[in-house]
Amino acid sequence: MQFINLILYSVLAQHGSSTTVNPYTKPADIASGAALYLKQCAGCHGPTGQGAGAGPALNSGAFRLGSTDEALFQTITKGVPGTTMPAFALSGLQTWQLVTHLRQLSMAGRTTKATGNITAGEALFKSNCLNCHRSNGPDLAGIGNRASLAELRQSILQPSDTVPPEFWRVQLTLTSGQSITGTRLNEDTHSIQLRDSQNRLQSIAKDQITKLDWLRTSPMPNFENKLTPTQIDDLIAYLVSTQRENQ
Ligand code: HEC
Ligand code: HEC
Repeated sequence: MQFINLILYSVLAQHGSSTTVNPYTKPADIASGAALYLKQCAGCHGPTGQGAGAGPALNSGAFRLGSTDEALFQTITKGVPGTTMPAFALSGLQTWQLVTHLRQLSMAGRTTKATGNITAGEALFKSNCLNCHRSNGPDLAGIGNRASLAELRQSILQPSDTVPPEFWRVQLTLTSGQSITGTRLNEDTHSIQLRDSQNRLQSIAKDQITKLDWLRTSPMPNFENKLTPTQIDDLIAYLVSTQRENQ
């Protein structure tokens, strides 16, 4: 079952490269990014990122061409061929500082838009979300610093649209015909260890595995039909309010 090792290694390699996060987010980077933006970008995208005819708005928190730090870095360095968005030959540092500034623009756009009730949102969070996030989901403390309003809404309404590789689940088909789905915890030469959907730890011998598939969908349920639009606004207001005080 050597091929399984190969599959796992290549996914881990992808994982490494797909989680590049902006290393330059200090106050000095914020200031340099803002100055660069005014010089290089404001003419087309508007001084506050509101969009200015030639370029689209950049302050909604959602970017059509990709919203991760890495995607923004790529858009700036490569431009958008066939449009007026130029490729910018800036240093890596300057490009990251611009990414930092784009996040700032989204934050500024966001604080004016969270309209829900924070107290109601906190209660909804405790009853619908907290348990799973404590045991199986990412830590959401300070998520208000990392995600824009639009990204939070998308995480709640379409959780499967952007699932980081560490949350992909593995589905194993065994020689017995049985199928097991779970989060891969570890692997050695002879077996794979995973936590199955009932939260049990399982160790599966590799010579019993006939097929291995990665499920890229989120284990998080889709709340679009479970909560009302008002409840979703309340939850978002609560999540935004969890941003750290010192930023
Ligand atoms: C000459 C005008 C122009 C300048 C200058 C310019 N842009 Fe753009 N930019 C555009 C246009 C037009 C698009 C939309 C391209 C398309 O249709 O996909 C765009 C798209 C983008 C996007 C993708 C938006 C999305 O929703 O995915 C980002 C990010 C971006 N620009 C950042 C910048 C930054 C940062 C700078 C300054 C370093 C800059 N742009 C300078 C015209 C410009
Ligand atoms: C069954 C477990 C489960 C439940 C219930 C759940 N989540 Fe999640 N959530 C996850 C997992 C796992 C992820 C990471 C994978 C992904 O992005 O979908 C996630 C991701 C998120 C993210 C994105 C986090 C980030 O760092 O980008 C947000 C925001 C979020 N959840 C909010 C909520 C809210 C609000 C609720 C309740 C209405 C909720 N979740 C209920 C498991 C859960």
